[in-house]
Parts: sequence; C-alpha cells; structure tokens
Amino acid sequence: MVDPQVIRVASIPGDGVGREVIDSGRRVLDEVAARSEGAFAFEWTEFPWGSDYYAEHGVMMPTDGVETVRAFDAIYFGAVGWPTVPDHVSLWGLRLAICQGLDQWANIRPVRFLPGVDHPIRDAIERGLEWIVVRENSEGEYAGIGGRNFSAREGGEIAVQSAIVTERGTERIIRYAFDLARERGEKGFEKKVTSVTKSNAQQYGMVLWDEIFERVAAEYPDVQSESKLVDAMAAHFLLRPEDLSVVVASNLFADILSDLGSAMAGSLGLAASANLNPGGRTPSMFEPVHGSAPDIAGKGISNPVGAILSGALMLRHFGLNNEADRLEAAVAVATSEGVLTRDIGGTADTAAMTDAIISHY
Ligand code: NAI
Ligand code: MG
Repeated sequence: MVDPQVIRVASIPGDGVGREVIDSGRRVLDEVAARSEGAFAFEWTEFPWGSDYYAEHGVMMPTDGVETVRAFDAIYFGAVGWPTVPDHVSLWGLRLAICQGLDQWANIRPVRFLPGVDHPIRDAIERGLEWIVVRENSEGEYAGIGGRNFSAREGGEIAVQSAIVTERGTERIIRYAFDLARERGEKGFEKKVTSVTKSNAQQYGMVLWDEIFERVAAEYPDVQSESKLVDAMAAHFLLRPEDLSVVVASNLFADILSDLGSAMAGSLGLAASANLNPGGRTPSMFEPVHGSAPDIAGKGISNPVGAILSGALMLRHFGLNNEADRLEAAVAVATSEGVLTRDIGGTADTAAMTDAIISHY
C-alpha cells in the first residue's frame, strides 16, 4: 500500500461568517478524505489572523505571515473585514498581501446555477448554466500604486490610484483563459473566451490588453473569442448569460462581474474561488467569493456552499478530480432536495446544510 497523500493546508478563517463557512468546509473535506480509503488526508494548521488579531497586535498578520504560509501545500481562506478596521487596511493587510506575496496571479471564479435555488434568470434553470470568470489577480487596478498628498490644503487633498497593465501579466492570464476554454471544451462546454475591458475610455492600459488578447487569440484558432466593454458586459451577464463560457478580465472588472454572476446564480454565498499560482511555485489559496457578512455573522445561518465548493476546487488542484466531481454533485443533490439556507430562500442553518452535503457525498 502506498503512503497516503498528506495535503498540508494553512487555514485562515478570518472574520465574521468566514469562520463559520471554513469550519463547514473543513468538516466536508475531512469527510471526503476519510472516505478515500487512506488515499489522502488533510493536515490543517489554523492561523487566527484577521480583525481580532489586528485589535491585539496592530497588524492583520505577523510580518512573516506570508513566509509562514508559503511552506504549506495550499491555503483555505474565509473572509477578511470587520467594521472595527478600515476595509483597505484589512484587505491589504491579509488577503491582498497573500495573493501578491505568493504571486497567485490567476483568480478562478466559477458560477454555477444549482438546482432548487431560485434565481432571477429563471429560463436558465433548465439549461443549468455554468461559466467561469478568470480574474487577473496580480496587478491592474489593485496594483497598490499611487499616493495621497496636499492634505494641508484645506479641502484640497489629492489622491492618485494608478492601474498597472503589463504585457507579461496580461498575456499570462489571457493564455490561462484560453487553455481553460480548451480544457472545458473536452467536457462539452462551448470553447469560447470573452475578454472584458473599457478600452474606449481607458486608452492606454486597456488598449494594450485588447492587443494582447487579439494576439493570443490568434494562437487558439479552435477557441472562439470576443471582446466586450465592461458596461455592456454587465447587461450581457443578465440578459444573455447562456452566451458566456470563460470570461477573462482585469482585477477590478472581474471582481465586480463575478459578484454579479454569483448573485444571478442565487446568492453571493454560493460562489467559490481559487487564487492560483499556475506554475505551482507557491501555494494557491481557495476561498469563497463573499466577505465576512457582519449582518448575519455569529447566527449560524451563513451559507457554507461557497466555501465547500472552494474546497472542491482545492481537491481538483491536487488532482483529486473524482472527489471534486462527487462533492459538487453532492451539493447539487442537497439543493435540489430543498436543503437551502436563508439567503437562497430556505430555512436550513449552516450546520444542516453542511450535514446534507456530507450525507449525499
Ligand atoms: P459580504 O460578502 O460580506 O456581504 C454581502 C451580502 O451578502 C450581505 O447581505 C451578506 O449577508 C450576504 N452574504 C455574504 N456571504 C454570505 C453567506 N455565506 N451566506 C449568506 N449570506 C451571505 O460583503 P460586504 O458586506 O460588502 O463586506 C463585509 C466585509 O467583508 C467588509 O469588511 C469587506 O471588506 C469584506 N470583504 C472581504 C472579502 C474577502 O475577504 N475576500 C470579499 C468581500 C468583502
Ligand atoms: Mg469581490
């Protein structure tokens, strides 16, 4: 018998409902491992970083935090942000620090319409929509380049926040999107990549992005490609979601569009995401798309599906495709049987939703 594959995961539940949903996700993943007949196991190390840690230490995580998690195979992340800490401090101090520090340059955000979940796009229920937003995760509008000055001028302070578009960063994410479209093509999805920019208004960075997109698209003649402006794309998401397969966009645009997509699928609480360093040089990080939801935190009613489906993405990342397929199917059976948390119109609490998913695995 071969030794079990031990997957060493740094778990960072963070704030608010992040703690509840990561707890659910870990329960599910441990159950998946327990039923693998010894093939693999998770070894979790939890880090209490977040807004409480900030209250005590004045920082979101220790200064060597990124180096600490670099030693793990993967990171399982909840959400960060709490009313006690300014959002730009909490986000830059933890989540963005990890994404940038570990060069997790691709953020993969699938949007799946689950059976039994009521959503605005009722026509799509039959078709079972499934598309993926590929988000440039290392630069663009979230490069953190800029500054503030002139605060001494009463009412005259200025701020500059620059978006950085590099040829290298843009090309690698676009190439990732085309490779993903090919891979999905083998599973029967339409082989198509839609690029989203605003190059009519942003004549430097977004035009460079468009040129790179065209160049890379020419290398993938078997994959359909199209370019859209972000405002039109927001409408397109809602009006013709069936046209979409892989959507690639800058850091900010993909952040916004993926929240829109998950809300269309029924709730932000359903959406999963993976922050990848595709070369595998550093550990990748798996997290639900939603934030810490202070409005419902602590009541045990948060939806764990986004965190659990992020766990499925983590299984896939380690080549455990059968387990990931089974887990995704178990989620769909649970929702189709009407086990739904409140955000998707049901009455189940976090634990009941988690138990139902485990029982269908
Ligand atoms: P949010 O995602 O926390 O909440 C938005 C809405 O969705 C709320 O009504 C909330 O109740 C609902 N919701 C979110 N997750 C849910 C779940 N699992 N189950 C049921 N309902 C859920 O976004 P918001 O309110 O803008 O931000 C709250 C805090 O989270 C802020 O501090 C923000 O900076 C932070 N945040 C952190 C993110 C991260 O760590 N990746 C992402 C987005 C926000
Ligand atoms: Mg977001």
